Amino acid sequence: MTDEIGLRRPKESDHARILPVVDDWWGGRSLHHLLPRLWLQHFTGTSWVAEAADGRLAGFLVGFVSPDHPTRAYIHMVATNPNLRRRGLGRRLYEAFIEDVRARGVTSVTAITWPGNRPSLAFHAALGFTVQEGPGTTKVFGMPAFVDYEGPGSDICVLRLEIPAS
Ligand SMILES: CC(C)(COP(=O)(O)OP(=O)(O)OC[C@H]1O[C@@H](n2cnc3c(N)ncnc32)[C@H](O)[C@@H]1OP(=O)(O)O)[C@@H](O)C(=O)NCCC(=O)NCCS
Repeated sequence: MTDEIGLRRPKESDHARILPVVDDWWGGRSLHHLLPRLWLQHFTGTSWVAEAADGRLAGFLVGFVSPDHPTRAYIHMVATNPNLRRRGLGRRLYEAFIEDVRARGVTSVTAITWPGNRPSLAFHAALGFTVQEGPGTTKVFGMPAFVDYEGPGSDICVLRLEIPAS
């Protein structure tokens, strides 16, 4: 089914298409402030847009290779159209990102999520990510999380995938 969906690099003009769907695709949470226009200006070379054959937006991923740590990459946001979930599209977006950054010398990928975001945690686990656990983490909703990681009240699970060098 998702074979009919193509992946391409985003353009700045995609910001106007992606921004309005963010809150809806995240289940009604107000999160569009996490996607300022700069993501579609300065990170398009490592990000992806998924589109159906008729041009409708099917998903997106914004991420980058760390300027400070060139062997590490970071996925800031990923989402797929709620009508197209559990069909392998999220996996395709992640695999495209990973293949791409691996070729640039990256050996690990990090992402973060809220401990209550069960679909996201299950998705990352399915892709081989592990939840960082140890000093500094506390169980929140049963998951190891860094309390107040993004400021007071914003507890976060840090997810990491090691990728073999190409
Ligand atoms: C997380 C998200 C991107 C997954 O996208 P998707 O297109 O449904 O993912 P896939 O179909 O490629 O799923 C791959 C595997 O992940 C796991 N998975 C994905 N969604 C899951 C869910 N809701 N519950 C349990 N497992 C899930 C499954 O193992 C799945 O394989 P399977 O369907 O063969 O069992 C999507 O649910 C989403 O957009 N959520 C809202 C935004 C968000 O929370 N993003 C992540 C934090 S930035």
